[in-house]
Amino acid sequence: MDKLDVKISAKNEYSYPIYIGENLLKSAREFILKHTKAKKILIVTNETVYPLYGKFLCFDNSEFIVLADGEIYKNMETLIKITDKALEMKLERTDAIIALGGGVIGDMAGFAASIYRRGTDFIQIPTTLLAQVDSSVGGKVAVNHRLGKNMLGAFYQPKAVISDTAVLKTLDERQYKTGLGEVLKYAFMENNCGAGEKYNFLEFLENNRENILKRDDKTLCELIKICCSLKSAVVNADEKEQGLRAILNLGHTYAHAIENITDYKKYTHGEAVSIGIKMVFDLALKLSTVTKEYYERSVNLLRSYGLLIEMREVFDKELFYNIMRGDKKVTEGRLKIILPNGEKSVEIRDNIDKKNILSGI
Ligand SMILES: NC(=O)c1ccc[n+]([C@@H]2O[C@H](COP(=O)([O-])OP(=O)(O)OC[C@H]3O[C@@H](n4cnc5c(N)ncnc54)[C@H](O)[C@@H]3O)[C@@H](O)[C@H]2O)c1
Ligand SMILES: [Zn+2]
Repeated sequence: MDKLDVKISAKNEYSYPIYIGENLLKSAREFILKHTKAKKILIVTNETVYPLYGKFLCFDNSEFIVLADGEIYKNMETLIKITDKALEMKLERTDAIIALGGGVIGDMAGFAASIYRRGTDFIQIPTTLLAQVDSSVGGKVAVNHRLGKNMLGAFYQPKAVISDTAVLKTLDERQYKTGLGEVLKYAFMENNCGAGEKYNFLEFLENNRENILKRDDKTLCELIKICCSLKSAVVNADEKEQGLRAILNLGHTYAHAIENITDYKKYTHGEAVSIGIKMVFDLALKLSTVTKEYYERSVNLLRSYGLLIEMREVFDKELFYNIMRGDKKVTEGRLKIILPNGEKSVEIRDNIDKKNILSGI
């Protein structure tokens, strides 16, 4: 088992551990007791994950709320169901709310924990690759509003994160690849992450492709640890996304538009992200902020993992641009793009003109 401590300097050195290893779910009870004083435990999960892994969290003092599966249920209505259940159980602030599921469950359970009695102890047990490398780290919790994704939410840090690599075996191929879309983004920004040590994550991904694609536990532990270290270094420097944290959105300005224009039905988030990353690399090549050689190396990495790099359809550019401008990452009318600039490095740009932004679509 590996353990990584995530520090949030803005909060007087508040830190919490991320445990990473094979079959950690079997010891879930010990982890929960170590990090909370919970007398009662509410486990938030969904109808897909519960039959697979609910059994590991059946304790005398635990109860489950099993939600319908899907991003469409990530809304206020479901949030109220979670808080209703917490109230019925008469949970105290020192009891625990546990998220057992992917990013949808983690975001909702975390938001519920942040508002229930003004903040109740919260533990993340992420069960998708995306959740283990991305959404369970950093404390962003939210639900969607009909007028926008993740529009209602908070910054709320967990007491601990327990990432069990064994659960990734039951993910279908598409969901696994979706997580890989987010994994690969870290390789292109390692030099911005200030983790104080070199992971050579790009090389790690190039050299361990076979093991990663066959979901080898040892390799996955290493991979998850590196991703969490890189993300937490960024979050530590900028918890509330006032600057640096925006780099984690590499490819996302395009990705959000792709998801939106296809009504969130044709592409998973990670698929849209890998297409979005290819688009920013096309842009970077055009603006000469990367060499042809590094461009080829990066696009080959995406391709070698079997990730989508082209949209399956052609969209009206004007419509696409307007949707991009509707993205949250617009500050005072300027479209923010995270642009690769040199090896393993990106920059935040808000001065790229429309013609160039649209050239890769
Ligand atoms: N908070 C953040 O910083 C952050 C970052 C990135 C994404 N997100 C959010 O995360 C969500 C996407 O997360 P996701 O990709 O994990 O999607 P998800 O939670 O919908 O999970 C994907 C699918 O996999 C199933 N599943 C989960 N674990 C499984 C397992 N071990 N075996 C088999 N099936 C399993 C789920 O039931 C679901 O059908 C979005 O709502 C996004 O907004 C949040
Ligand atoms: Zn993302």
